[in-house]
Formats: sequence, structure tokens, C-alpha cells
Amino acid sequence: MLGHLLHLAGIDSVIVENRSQEYVVDRVRAGVLEQGTVDLLIQSGVGERLQREGLPHDGIYINVRGQRRRIDMASLTGRRITVYGQNEVVKDLIAARAASGRPLFFQVGDVSVHDLDSRQPTVRFTINRETYELRCDVIAGCDGFHGICRPSIPEGRRRTFDRVYPFGWLGILVEAPPSSPELVYSFHDRGFALFSMRSNSVTRLYMQCAPDEDATKWSDDRIWDELLTRLGSDDGWKPLVGPITQKGVTGMRSFVTEPMRHGAMFLAGDAAHIVPPTGAKGLNLAIADVWRLSRAVAEYYQSGNERLLERYSDDCLQRVWRAQQFSWWMTSMLHRPDTESLFDWRRQLAELEYVTSSRAAMTSLAENYVGLPIT
Ligand code: DHB
Repeated sequence: MLGHLLHLAGIDSVIVENRSQEYVVDRVRAGVLEQGTVDLLIQSGVGERLQREGLPHDGIYINVRGQRRRIDMASLTGRRITVYGQNEVVKDLIAARAASGRPLFFQVGDVSVHDLDSRQPTVRFTINRETYELRCDVIAGCDGFHGICRPSIPEGRRRTFDRVYPFGWLGILVEAPPSSPELVYSFHDRGFALFSMRSNSVTRLYMQCAPDEDATKWSDDRIWDELLTRLGSDDGWKPLVGPITQKGVTGMRSFVTEPMRHGAMFLAGDAAHIVPPTGAKGLNLAIADVWRLSRAVAEYYQSGNERLLERYSDDCLQRVWRAQQFSWWMTSMLHRPDTESLFDWRRQLAELEYVTSSRAAMTSLAENYVGLPIT
């Protein structure tokens, strides 16, 4: 997305990716786009298939111990979310990149960044074992939580803030039409579960599990037993069962590194911050970061003015911490805690009652969920 926005501003970039094209296109990841993300993709000319195939949602359900309650986000905020897989967004962006004729290299190895404190930082990498060195003005570290950019900042020049949760999500992809047009977040005595989708024929389901759960130990029958128990609601609703085509466990953590800049290198997305998935903020935060970075870089090339580059980290971190707070709150409210504390349990139930009945509380959840405008 950053490469695309820079291209629209007439700025050269080279994208180096260590995975293969097949991997990034096939790997199922997040699926909920905020209104601001959708608007930006459309305005920047990569929203054509999204508008055709994306599924707009006006609300979500919260299922509290078998009672499904709807939060009408569109009427509370005037905004909505769209379900469209992150890998579909990536596919559209790769097509736009190819059409621009600008360079994008897959399966690049041994990437390292150098001279970050200078006016001419470099990126070194190999393609087919041949070494390249790229001299540039700005490096964008969009290489995810396990990437090389963040660790290239000396430890004394960054601070990290994090929390690891005592649970994970077991996620499955199912060949079955979604039985509800909207997502269902379910709070159940046996633990959290989530009903989502990717298209009119593919359902996506998650359930709370141990952080180190071994997905291969879960037979399909056992997964369905658990999901149907946790998601089923007393109005008769439940997900449709179908063949499971993918299975995987995701850990849950909150993580922020500050600042999101070191000299000529700017971090964006998961390289700088991780949110737990509850609330679906990860992809949307990354898009907001790169939009801001593209504006800052464009201003620098147009006028030599570094004002926006200097403000990049502080401006991003405002939104990042808002999303951190929201994601932590949704996670804590909806998951079964690892303690046997009945106090926490009762407190969570009281909060869920409030969040699904008070217009003020529903509005607060909804405005965070649909996302702040990208400014
Ligand atoms: C999905 C993931 C989320 O984390 C979420 O809160 C909602 C939906 C999904 O993958 O569909």
C-alpha cells in the first residue's frame, strides 16, 4: 500500500519481500476493513474488486452466554465495516504494482539495513544468492513483528511496551455459506468464540485455546463440538458445518515500540505494533501508518520540508494507543480469564450487559470498531 501511494505521488520505491508471491496471496489473515481503510483503497484506485466482492456489514452480534444481541454500528455512527480478506487486498495491490511497472521482488534473502543515521541509508539483500545494495533516502520498515527493521534500532534508542495474554485463538476456514450475514462475538463459560466469514461461501471461525495449543491435536469433530457449543444461541442460530480447509493457532499479544522512527528508517504496521486480534484493528492500523508515511515522504520531496516526517511517530502513536486500548478492552471483556476469580467473571458479565444495552456504551464500542477517520 505504501508503494502504491508513493507511486501515485510520483515517488520511486523498491519493495523487497522475503516470502514468495504464492505465500502472501494464499495465506489467510485478517478480514475486517474499517470504513476509512475502504475509502482509502477506493480513492487510491485499488478498490474496484473490493467494491464488487467485499461484504459491507452494518452491525455485529455479541452473544452473551447464548443470548445474541446486535449492535447496530451504522445507525450509531453512520459508518460500517467491510469483510474482505487481507490477502485479497494484497492481491489487488500486487496487481496495481505490476501495472505501475515499479520494482517488487519476492523471495529476497539476507535483508539488512545500514547507515540509518546518515542521509543515505542502504538496504542489502540477495536475490538468487546474488548480493544487491540499494542506496535510498528513506527506508520503510514494513516487515512485520518478526522482521529485521525494528531490531536494527539500537536498544538504547527504543522502548517497548507489551503484554502477552494467557490464551490464543484456534482459527479454521470452512467451506460453508455464513449462516449469519454479520459477525458473532461469543462470550461463553467454555471460552470465547468468533463467527466470521470471507465470502458468501466461506465461513471463518475462531475459538479461545491455550497459547501453545497444538492444532493438529484437534480433530474436526472435536472442533465442531466446541464451536457449536460456544457459538450457538437460544434464538436457534448456529454456524453451518462444512469441510475445514485450514486450521491454525495464533498467539495473542499487545506490543508497541517507540518511537516508530530511527534516523532515515520509519516503522509501519506490525514492525512497530501488534494488537490482539479481537476487534480486528491490525491491518487497519498498518494502512493508517503507511498513509501518513506516504504524505510525509511526499511533502519532503515536494518542498524539502521534514515537518511531517518529524511528526510521523507521534502522530501514528496516537492512533496506535487508541487501538491498543480498544483491542485490550475487547479481549479482556470477551475471553475466559485464566484465573478462577469469580469476581472477574461477574464483572465481565456486568460489562457485557452494559455494552449490549446502553446506547452510550454501544456507541463507544461501535465508533472504535468502525474506526476513526484516517487523517
Ligand atoms: C476476523 C478477525 C478478527 O480478529 C475479528 O475481530 C473479526 C474478524 C476475521 O478474520 O474474519
